Order: sequence, then structure tokens, then C-alpha cells
Amino acid sequence: MSDVMRAVRCHRYAGLDDRGKPVPTPVPLREVLTLDEIPRPVNEPGHVLVRAHYAGVQYPDALQAQGLYQHKPGLPYVPGMDVSGTVIEADADRVQPGDRVVAQMSIGGLAEVVKVPAASVWRVPAGVDLAACANLGRNFFPAYYSLKVLGETTADSLVLVDGASGGVGMAAVELAKAMGARVIAGVSIPEKRDLPAAAGADRVLCYGTDRDGHRRFKDEVRAASAELGHPDGVDVVLDMVQGDLFEAALLSVVRPLGRICLVGFTAGQRPIRPGLILIKQAVLMGSMWGAWAANHQDGHQRNVAEILDFLASGAIKPRVDRLFPLERFIEGFELFEHNRGRGNTVISVQE
Ligand SMILES: NC(=O)c1ccc[n+]([C@@H]2O[C@H](COP(=O)([O-])OP(=O)(O)OC[C@H]3O[C@@H](n4cnc5c(N)ncnc54)[C@H](OP(=O)(O)O)[C@@H]3O)[C@@H](O)[C@H]2O)c1
Repeated sequence: MSDVMRAVRCHRYAGLDDRGKPVPTPVPLREVLTLDEIPRPVNEPGHVLVRAHYAGVQYPDALQAQGLYQHKPGLPYVPGMDVSGTVIEADADRVQPGDRVVAQMSIGGLAEVVKVPAASVWRVPAGVDLAACANLGRNFFPAYYSLKVLGETTADSLVLVDGASGGVGMAAVELAKAMGARVIAGVSIPEKRDLPAAAGADRVLCYGTDRDGHRRFKDEVRAASAELGHPDGVDVVLDMVQGDLFEAALLSVVRPLGRICLVGFTAGQRPIRPGLILIKQAVLMGSMWGAWAANHQDGHQRNVAEILDFLASGAIKPRVDRLFPLERFIEGFELFEHNRGRGNTVISVQE
């Protein structure tokens, strides 16, 4: 096997100036990301070498290449946090060469071969499409952690998910349904309704893009909650969006002592009046799945095993929503650069 490989690399941060300060308008991502030839990794103790067939691209990858994500790797770096592929070498018992696996990492996924700590590699159940699993770590791990550990979701729960046509949002809808819960999905515009509807949401409602739309959404969620047998409001909110939506609607639709899991803030952050949290008796929780997993390996491995069981039984059926060959990887990034991300975006690295 050759000792070089193809990999995507980010050479500068598109959203930062020379002094590392955010600029008002980031340069286009296609000016900072290139497909290069770099040395192939060599395996080391406790690690697994995986031939990547598919790599996920999601919102955090684009944010990271702009320099606006919490983790800023040294430049140049190989982006990509999730792959699916086959094991080439394994210094661990949990997988063997030839196994079909998913692997999760902090960077480095958009490459033909990736080296991953053994604890972050899992066998894919027989018959499950590898391409559909290319974002399992990114989308399903945080969604399940937020629903199960933070939200304490049960089969009796009513769950509200916003950003529900996005990667984590779609995963949250599917997983909540697999857990037996009822789900109200929220999207900004009617054109985005089809994905959460296909994932099994009981209701898909639009929150629009301004405060009027958010207020209408609040009324519609309240009505839907009552229809679905939860007149006091929803039990668990998974919020990807924040922005004005948070105070205008989300705080008002959660039931007393209901839980709001803050997963992302794609619409930015706005000041809120803390008194409303008191009046609503809401429980607000920041969802940092990666930090939790690092300190709770047993719980994390149990969660992943449960997600893989859902996959094996068909209770969740992740699909590929956009697929680009490696040579056109930039088109995947550009979807997220312009808020055109939908569901599961995958790069085909090699068959
Ligand atoms: N906490 C964690 O552990 C964790 C893990 C993974 C991801 N995240 C975060 O979770 C959020 C969702 O990630 P994702 O991969 O699901 O992203 P995504 O696929 O791009 O979906 C995000 C959704 O947010 C909504 N949105 C509203 N304003 C937006 C804007 N200005 N730009 C882009 N999207 C906007 C969009 O839906 P509408 O247009 O329908 O509103 C979009 O579908 C991100 O903030 C990400 O960083 C957190």
C-alpha cells in the first residue's frame, strides 16, 4: 500500500483575520480548503487504522474551517469528525481487519486512511449501509445523549426538536421515536418539512424567520401538545437554533419543570430575561456530548451500543441526503456555509 494518501486540508481560517479576530464576512471556504496528498498514518498501540469509504460533513466542519468552532486545530489540519469504512489494522480486540466500522474523531476524517483510538471505533451491524452511517457520531451521539441523559426522555415524553431538518435534528427525531416518545419537529420554512416528517415526527411546524413567525409557532406547539395529550406543554426541548426563537417560543412551550437541552446556536445568541426561566420553572441544560463522553466512557459506550441496536433492529434508518465524491468535497462544505444543510451530508472517499 502506498505511503501517501489523499486528504482534505484547511490552510487558513476563513472567518478570522491575521490576528485571529473574527471578520464581518468570512472568505469563501473554497479558498481555504484543498484536496492534497499527505503521508498516510502509521498505526500505534491502542489504535485502529480504518480505510475510509465515507466521511461525514456537517455544520461544525464548516464552522471550524471558519475558525469559529470551539476547537481550533493548528494549521494546516485535516477536517472531518466521522467516517465509515473497513478496518486495515487493529491494535485492539474490539475490531478485526476487514470489519465494517464507524469511527469518531475530533479532526482528520476527510482522508483515505484514518487512525483512531480503539474506543472510538464500532462495528456496523450487518446489512446496514456504510454511507448512511457516515455521520453517526456527529448526529446521533449528541442527539441520544441529549434525549436520554439530559432530557430523561421516556416512552411517555413529548419532545420538541428545532432545526429538525438538520443533521442532529433529524437524528433526534428518529431516536426520540425509537424511544417511544411523541415528537413535534420545528423547521424555519415549509420547504424543510419533508425530512423530519419522513423521520417519523408526529407534527412538523414552522417557526419562520422572524418574531411573528416564532410567536405563531409558540401557539401552534401549545395546540399540538394538547392534542398529543400534554396540555401542560412539552417535556423535553432539544434546541439547535437559539437566536430569538429561544425566548419567543421555546421557554413558553415547555411544561413546568420540563427540560430544555441547549445543543447548538445556529441562529446566534440573544440576551434572555432570566426571570422567565424562574416563572416557567424550566430546567436549562447545556449539552456538550463530547466533554461528557470523555469523562463517562461506560455510559457513552452503552449509549453507542443502544444506538447500534436501534440500527440493527431498523428502529432508526439513517439515510444519505446529499452525497459528493471526494473531488467535489467543497460542495458539501458550501451547503453549511449558506444554511442549505439538510439531514445527512456525506463525502464518498473511496468505494
Ligand atoms: N452540543 C453538541 O455536543 C453538539 C454536537 C453536534 C452539533 N452541535 C451543534 O448543533 C447544531 C446543529 O448542528 P447540525 O449538524 O444539525 O447542523 P445543520 O445540519 O446545519 O442544521 C442546523 C439547523 O439550524 C437551523 N438554522 C437556523 N439558523 C441557521 C443559520 N443561520 N445557519 C445554519 N443553520 C441555521 C437550520 O434549520 P431551520 O432553517 O429550519 O431553522 C438548520 O437545518 C449546530 O450548532 C452544531 O454546532 C452540537
